[in-house]
Amino acid sequence: MVDIEERFFERGNPFCGFRVPIVTYTYDDHEKLNLDLIEIIDELDAFYREVKKDTASNDDGSTLTKSILTHNFNNFNIFDRTEYDNIVKFKDFVSKCYKHYIETYTQFSLDDLWIQCWANKVGKFDYLSKHSHMGYLSLECCLSSNYFVKAPGHETYTRYYSPLTINKNEYVYTPNVEGSLTIFPSFIEHDTSSNRNSNLYRYTLGMDVYEPKQYQFADRTYVKLIE
Ligand SMILES: [Fe+2]
Repeated sequence: MVDIEERFFERGNPFCGFRVPIVTYTYDDHEKLNLDLIEIIDELDAFYREVKKDTASNDDGSTLTKSILTHNFNNFNIFDRTEYDNIVKFKDFVSKCYKHYIETYTQFSLDDLWIQCWANKVGKFDYLSKHSHMGYLSLECCLSSNYFVKAPGHETYTRYYSPLTINKNEYVYTPNVEGSLTIFPSFIEHDTSSNRNSNLYRYTLGMDVYEPKQYQFADRTYVKLIE
C-alpha cells in the first residue's frame, strides 16, 4: 500500500477562491532505488560538466540554480534507464500515483499523457528559485512533481505559492523526505530552501506530465506515462 498525504492550498474567498491539491506519495522500497538514482545522476552530471559543456545555458524555467542537470532537463529522461530494475519499478509507482491524482482530483483523461523526468543536483548554498513549469493556466492536463532522493545532511523544504497574484507571497510547504513524490499543478510557483551543507549535494528528481503538442516531441525526451 502506498502512503498518501494530502495537502490542500485553499482560500474560500467569495470573489476568487481556490483549492489546489498538493499530494505526497511514499515509495516503500526507496533505499535501493535511491542508490541507483545517485549513480545515474552522478554519471549524467559528469557528462554535462565534462563532455557536453555548452548546453548549460538552456532554459531552466528561471530556477537560477548552478545544477547543470536542471539546465539540461529536456535532454535526458531518467525513465530511459530501463537497464535498472529499480527504475522500471519506480516508473510503475509514478504512473500509479499520477493515475490516482488525476482520477481523484481532476476530470482529465489518462489516454495520451507523456512524462519527462530529469534530476537536480544542488550544491553548497544553492537552491531552486521561485519558478513554475508552465506560466499559464491550461485547460489540458499539466501536472508536475518532485521526488526526493537524498538530503544534504539537514532538512530542506519545498514551498508552493498562491496561484493568485494579489496573494503571491503566501505559501504552503512540504518538508523534503527521502522516498516521497509530491504531485502539484504545473502552473503553481514553487521554490526550495537552500543547501546549507558545504560538502553534500541535495539530489531530487523533477517531472512534468502532459499532452505534448506534436512540435514539442522534437525538443523533449518524453516517454508514455502509462504503458
Ligand atoms: Fe520545479
